[in-house]
Amino acid sequence: MIVIGGSASMDLAKELATVLDCTFIPATTTAFPDGECYTRLEVEELNDDVILVQNTFPDSKIIETFLLQDAIKKLGAKSLTLVIPYFGYARQDRVFKNGEPVSANIMCKHLDLCCDRVITIDLHKESTLDSFTCAHKDLKAAPVIAEYFKTKGIDMVLSPDIGAAGRAKIVGDCMGLPYDHLCKTRISGTEVKIQPATADVKGKSVLIVDDMISTGGTIIAATAALKEAGAVKVSVACTHGVFINNALERFNGSPIDSVVCCNTLNNAVSRISVAELVAGAVKDALAGKW
Ligand code: R5P
Repeated sequence: MIVIGGSASMDLAKELATVLDCTFIPATTTAFPDGECYTRLEVEELNDDVILVQNTFPDSKIIETFLLQDAIKKLGAKSLTLVIPYFGYARQDRVFKNGEPVSANIMCKHLDLCCDRVITIDLHKESTLDSFTCAHKDLKAAPVIAEYFKTKGIDMVLSPDIGAAGRAKIVGDCMGLPYDHLCKTRISGTEVKIQPATADVKGKSVLIVDDMISTGGTIIAATAALKEAGAVKVSVACTHGVFINNALERFNGSPIDSVVCCNTLNNAVSRISVAELVAGAVKDALAGKW
């Protein structure tokens, strides 16, 4: 088995290779003078099962992924498993306004052209993977997040909206804690409205879990609603910390007490590793279990 790290996911790929105790090859990625992506795997051949770890975010990394898929096949890989820790465009998973594309499905269709198996982590909507014709699996980070918070004095787990209620349930169940969800209405790409919390959070230390934090609008509003309802401490955890527009810095002046995320994307608070989770799925796949 050989793990290849694309430039968007180099650290996680390296950690995965260590967990799997196998060869690690980093892609060498630069740009041509005109800005087009140039990537190369500096090996003679890849006569083995290959695992490519690469986020399809931001846009330039999608191109790099296509190029690496082609290079891997040309070097003679026996099979190619594409691990996409953070899948870009996952949230445009339907036509919201007439004339829009279903971006998530189109990404799948193109990535599908050159791979045998795909692994994602907490994809915004799991059914998006049905656009792949190859084998696919979406891994759930909730148990890993629950493990991280087991000793952190949490009393209750909440999701910021009903869409993430299942995630709060898994984390709550794993920690043996009650769980609930808030109700969110999205007003624009950067603005959300959270209804006043109905759950009894008075005097409690609450953990909010979500699949991703982008602008941070959702968790800032959710934390404000919980503090308003009497929560004494609000910790926040997500799988994908995108943190656009300096979101992490803005949390400093907000009522949020702490933020942590998984290492699907690298940032100052990506302290929860999904390497073991991915390694388990890779081993099962190569053993023919899925
Ligand atoms: C939405 O359905 C997602 O689960 C997240 O709640 C959302 O994408 C977070 O975005 P933001 O941080 O920009 O509010």
